[in-house]
Amino acid sequence: MELKTLSVRIVLECTMKSSLLLSLCALVTVSQQSPTRDTCECELSNAQPFPYDKLNTTQKSVADCNNNVSPQKTLDLESLLLGLERRLPQLEEDMSELEQDDDGGVYGVLALHVIENELTEIRLLMERLNVTTATHRQQAQITTQQISAIRAELQQLEAYDTLQVVKRDQTNQRLKRDLDQCRNRQPIAPSTLPPYGACPHGRFQNVSGPRIFTAGEYPGSFKYGAWGQDPKPEKGKEDWYWYVPLTSSNRFAHYVRQYSTLSSLVVGISVPGNVMIHASNPTTNTVQGPNVVMYAGALYYNCYNVDSVCRFNLTSRTVTTLQLPKGTRFNSKSNFCSLDECFPFTDLDLATDESGVWVIYTTNQDHGNLVLSRVEHGPEGLQLGQTWRTSLFKQATTNTFMACGVLYATRSVSKETEEIFYSYDTATGQEKFNVGIFFQKMLPNIYSLNYSPVDQMLHSYADANMVSYKVVFEY
Ligand SMILES: *[C@@H]1O[C@H](CO)[C@@H](O)[C@H](O)[C@H]1NC(C)=O
Ligand SMILES: *[C@@H]1O[C@H](CO)[C@@H](O)[C@H](O)[C@H]1NC(C)=O
Ligand SMILES: *[C@@H]1O[C@H](CO)[C@@H](O)[C@H](O)[C@H]1NC(C)=O
Ligand SMILES: *[C@@H]1O[C@H](CO)[C@@H](O)[C@H](O)[C@H]1NC(C)=O
Repeated sequence: MELKTLSVRIVLECTMKSSLLLSLCALVTVSQQSPTRDTCECELSNAQPFPYDKLNTTQKSVADCNNNVSPQKTLDLESLLLGLERRLPQLEEDMSELEQDDDGGVYGVLALHVIENELTEIRLLMERLNVTTATHRQQAQITTQQISAIRAELQQLEAYDTLQVVKRDQTNQRLKRDLDQCRNRQPIAPSTLPPYGACPHGRFQNVSGPRIFTAGEYPGSFKYGAWGQDPKPEKGKEDWYWYVPLTSSNRFAHYVRQYSTLSSLVVGISVPGNVMIHASNPTTNTVQGPNVVMYAGALYYNCYNVDSVCRFNLTSRTVTTLQLPKGTRFNSKSNFCSLDECFPFTDLDLATDESGVWVIYTTNQDHGNLVLSRVEHGPEGLQLGQTWRTSLFKQATTNTFMACGVLYATRSVSKETEEIFYSYDTATGQEKFNVGIFFQKMLPNIYSLNYSPVDQMLHSYADANMVSYKVVFEY
């Protein structure tokens, strides 16, 4: 009897409240059983308005399935093929050089050695391709089964989602984000000047799907890091890639690792290997934080424990520093953030574009809004060039990059999608909060993001993986 009274009370209360709650009531059914017995048994079925646990299991299946699903595997395959594609012309070139110069002398022997190394790399690539293809085939079968199971579960869940819990949760997160944005935004004077005028490739239009996706040499070992290509390489190093993993506490690094080609990066053969900044890690003038770049044979980064930019010349192995203005936030005071966490020691973001090196940071006097400065080479080493102040709150963005003199900022829309939502054109001073370019993430957290003006690729380092996109420009 107790139970029955209780259930009836719930129903009555519900009917008095708003129509929204009515749908909740619809899920509560009261049934009276065995009237012949003395006691009256009541059963509350579906008392829970929404089966969160079921949603949880489905989310897990989807995640599991995602891990198996083809985009990642195909990308593996595509990265390998791309590596191969770039490797073969090199081999061909070296072969023809060998043919021309084969006088049996020292040069011929050396060239032969180079070609041998190349063939080894190509063989390794082929083996990786073979394994990847086999796994791929197997996964396709498993995935098909998983998908049909998930579809059935989702259909059930959809029927349950009368209160639109999931949808609202998503909208709320989005609104919260926009609100933050709004609070930190100042009115912008509209500009009549044509934007992106200076870009040789045309207007920044879109970003492709992932083109390179690789765990590199140490799969899963270093969560934070950065990698890319030097936009102004020394002669003979045009195809080189660099990689700086944060090897201590996800915070510090003390060497640059180099790869002579994309394929050697993918298969994990580091030739010529490491260049040490210092044997200790961390120490004065070693690297702090993941947002580093390489330019003209030097690595630019936030120096350990200070509000300065360091430039490490890989040839002379010397460090030059650039003191940032008073009030610059450092040591994890103003980090980049995703939807639910901020990334430690991301106070300073170094960037490259067609015109050189930039530093993106914030100061106390700018109340946490992004500040952008040119890093220039003066007569006495590095100096801070022209500076622009934006009205974008740093913590509302995941990362920033520069392309053709325009600063772009991204934000996390979900674990799978990132949005380039903001731009600041240094030529016109025009600021936009509605850029609206979305791209697919292979892993939820992007720790570094940089544009490579050499091949118009956007290189990201996300949860121990290297992922690249092609930037689409349009005239
Ligand atoms: C989902 O289930 C797992 C394991 O049962 C639990 O650790 C996790 O907190 C659950 N997540 C939510 C959002 O309920
Ligand atoms: C590819 O892998 C299969 C076994 O999975 C093996 O029999 C075959 O020899 C491999 N082919 C190459 C070219 O490595
Ligand atoms: C941008 O690229 C994505 C992915 O390739 C595509 O789906 C989308 O339609 C493109 N958007 C525009 C405006 O071209
Ligand atoms: C790095 O050092 C080498 C050798 O001292 C020098 O030739 C080169 O110009 C330096 N590079 C930069 C970017 O300062």
